[in-house]
Amino acid sequence: MCGIVGYTGHRQAYPVILKGLKRLEYRGYDSSGVALLKDGVLNIYKKKGKVAELEESMIGKNIDAHIGIGHTRWATHGEPSDRNAHPHSSASGKLAMIHNGIIENYAQIKQELINKGYSFSSDTDTEVLLNFIEDIHKNNGSTLEEAVRIALKRVIGAYCILLIEQDNPDTIIAARKGSPLVIGIGKGEHFLASDASPIIEYTKEVVYVNDYELAIVKPDELILKNLGNEKITPYITKLDMELAAIEKGGYDHFMIKEIFEQPSTIHDCLRGRLDAKEGQIRMSGIDHNIEQLANASRIMIVACGTSWHAGLVAEYIIEELCRIPVEVEYASEFRYRNPIIHKGDVIIAISQSGETADTLVALEKAKENGAFIFGVVNAVGSSIARISHAGAYTHAGPEIGVASTKAFTGQLAVLMMMALNIAKHKGTITMDRYQTLVSELEAVPEKVSEILKGTEQIKAIAEKYKDASDFLFLGRGYNFPVALEGALKLKEISYIHAEGYPAAEMKHGPIALVDETLPVVFIATKDLYHEKVVSNMQEIKARKGKIISIVTQGDTHSPSLSNDYFAIPLADELIAPILTVIPLQLLSYYVGIAKGIDVDKPRNLAKSVTVE
Ligand code: F6R
Repeated sequence: MCGIVGYTGHRQAYPVILKGLKRLEYRGYDSSGVALLKDGVLNIYKKKGKVAELEESMIGKNIDAHIGIGHTRWATHGEPSDRNAHPHSSASGKLAMIHNGIIENYAQIKQELINKGYSFSSDTDTEVLLNFIEDIHKNNGSTLEEAVRIALKRVIGAYCILLIEQDNPDTIIAARKGSPLVIGIGKGEHFLASDASPIIEYTKEVVYVNDYELAIVKPDELILKNLGNEKITPYITKLDMELAAIEKGGYDHFMIKEIFEQPSTIHDCLRGRLDAKEGQIRMSGIDHNIEQLANASRIMIVACGTSWHAGLVAEYIIEELCRIPVEVEYASEFRYRNPIIHKGDVIIAISQSGETADTLVALEKAKENGAFIFGVVNAVGSSIARISHAGAYTHAGPEIGVASTKAFTGQLAVLMMMALNIAKHKGTITMDRYQTLVSELEAVPEKVSEILKGTEQIKAIAEKYKDASDFLFLGRGYNFPVALEGALKLKEISYIHAEGYPAAEMKHGPIALVDETLPVVFIATKDLYHEKVVSNMQEIKARKGKIISIVTQGDTHSPSLSNDYFAIPLADELIAPILTVIPLQLLSYYVGIAKGIDVDKPRNLAKSVTVE
């Protein structure tokens, strides 16, 4: 939710900021803007729409500056417009600020400022916080840094802010709570951003700023303090990421690049951990905590969206293999109800970004109650990774397309390895079954490559059904969550209404939707439930629904019931979801493309949901 970039140093600030904003556009793309400071003149430029529109509007403008801040917005307070775009300027015009997050008590602070005679030129909570800071700065005789500290102590909500001041030619003041901030350390320069992607081409040395920390950043100096004004030694980390990983590399969109990366991202996830020959899985986060995990009386999985779907697959797998009861919760529900959490309960948090606000707060709550938090996270060094007691990275690399693809298959691979390790330790799996699943898992990257060879076939199916107004996705058992994921992907990328259901549940309501115009996607691969799914297909066929099925290679019966089908290699039913989801990712991508949608940045969405 919103991407922020800042620069202070010897380079021209604008090109660094603009490039950074383009990399962060996945976080929001309603409007964008920059504030540039040179010789006591503070210029703010902003524009509704994507960063490319800002770039175009900047032609001929004065962009000469060595310090600046920039923002790409996902609207919370106030519609997407030029005037609600960031950076905002304070009443005196001397301060400019960008903000990622939500100030929950902004209305009260705004009223206080209005009573003092302030007026506002935007609908944002950001402008309120900025003028609150300026008011303290002017009237209390505080330095700007002190004023920021005082203001933030009053604020309820989440923020990452960057501030520059007209009279302070080289300093950026930054602070965070709940929204991410990374500072890149260069020679005589510093870079600030919501994630490392705008920084990576300049330096690999970064500091992840923690909640309630404030940074005073000059070209040659980085001072980190807590809100109590005590200095903190910055902990410098080396980035393990290459520039190529965040570029399109010849593909038209990040989404299709990321779908095609899956043979190698799944391989990377398994590499060094799974050894089929030795019949071993080694994962330090699991091995070091195996007693805690294996002795859990129950496991709760907390996540949102696609990550929640991975959690549902994990529920089925962990209960089957480890015989531990599992509950899967939407993080947004978990955090606001009064869940029963016992000391020693295991909570698995699943998150691609590691920054999802609902998941993060749910974990904080569970941690306070004594739960053991295990993070399954993709973004290295992210907030969820850092607050977890232990965890396992999915190693899918940066996921930039807004719709999650390779992160999902990475999550499934990690969760499968986790379940196998726990089951082996508990003795709830036979060695034969363990060995079969380990070997099956090792074969997944190759099978994914084989599925991707059929892309043209999926593209043709997508073009045939692109004008449908609704879709139904049906699956049973391990493939029921995949049906949910297929429906979510299609909604996001094509704006077609889609619903996922357990195939048998369809007759309890959704069957009323079926007529000759409704495409129904069945995940009908060979497994324990296959015959039952085939019966459900018959029920749809009898009502003239259009059946698109994902079947196992060699099956002839399911294709004979289908209008269109796509065959994938045979796999154990516990492993199948990692494969069955691939054609559904491709289907949504090609339907979106056929409809002319910007699939990497579909409307209203943002990649990293750092507001609740
Ligand atoms: C769907 C999608 C979202 C995310 C959800 C959770 O394609 O990307 O539904 O899965 O916002 O995000 P993370 O995994 O970053 O916590």
